[in-house]
Amino acid sequence: MDLNQLILETRTIRRFEQKSIDSKILREMIENARISPSAANAQPLRYVVVSKKDLVEKIQPLVHWAAALPKELGTPKIGEQPVAFVTVSKIQNANSFSDIDVGLSTQNIILTARSHGIGACIMASIDREKIKSILGIAEDLRIVIALGYPAHESHIVEVDKSREKPLNYFLDDQKNYFVPKRSFDEICRMEVD
Ligand SMILES: Cc1cc2nc3c(=O)[nH]c(=O)nc-3n(C[C@H](O)[C@H](O)[C@H](O)COP(=O)(O)O)c2cc1C
Repeated sequence: MDLNQLILETRTIRRFEQKSIDSKILREMIENARISPSAANAQPLRYVVVSKKDLVEKIQPLVHWAAALPKELGTPKIGEQPVAFVTVSKIQNANSFSDIDVGLSTQNIILTARSHGIGACIMASIDREKIKSILGIAEDLRIVIALGYPAHESHIVEVDKSREKPLNYFLDDQKNYFVPKRSFDEICRMEVD
C-alpha cells in the first residue's frame, strides 16, 4: 500500500471484531519496533505481546477509552473489546529522550498493524501498576497498544472552529469516528524556494 494512504488510514480504533490476530503478525509488529530509530541507539524499550484470552480479559478493564466521549459511546462493550495488547516499557535509567523512542516505536507498531488491516489504540490512560503486576513487568510501563480488526470506520475532518471543542473527535449515528486535524497552514510555515 502507498505510504501516504497507510498513514491516512492508521487512525485510532476503539471497537474491534472478535477475530484473533496471527502471532506471526504480532511478531512482525515488534520486529519493526525493534529496528526503530533510538536516541544514542540505546534501545531502552521492552515489550510484552499479549493475545492469550485469559490475560487479555484481565487487561481489558485496566485501560481507559476516549476521554472526549461519554463512556457509553467511547468504551468498547463486550463483543467489541481488543483481542490483543502490546505493552511498551522503558528500562531503568533510560535517557531523557527515551519517550521519543516510545513514540517512534509505537508508530511502527500501529503502521505494521494497519498494513495487515488491524486497528490500534495507543493508550496512556491505564492502570499501570495493576497491568505491570499481571504481566510481571519490572520496567517503567509507558503505554499499552490495544489491537484488533476494526469494527468501525474513522475519518479525518477539518477543524470546525464553531464547535465548542473544535479538536474533540466525534461520532455519527453508526458510531463511526471523525477526527479533526489542524490544517497544514496552521501548523507549518514553508520557507522554501
Ligand atoms: C500518547 C497517546 C496516548 C493516548 N492515550 C489514549 C487513551 O488512554 N485512551 C484512548 O482512548 N485513546 C488514547 N489515545 C488516542 C488519541 O485519542 C487519538 O490518537 C486522537 O484522538 C487522534 O485520533 P487518531 O489517532 O485517529 O488521529 C492516545 C494517543 C496517544 C498518541
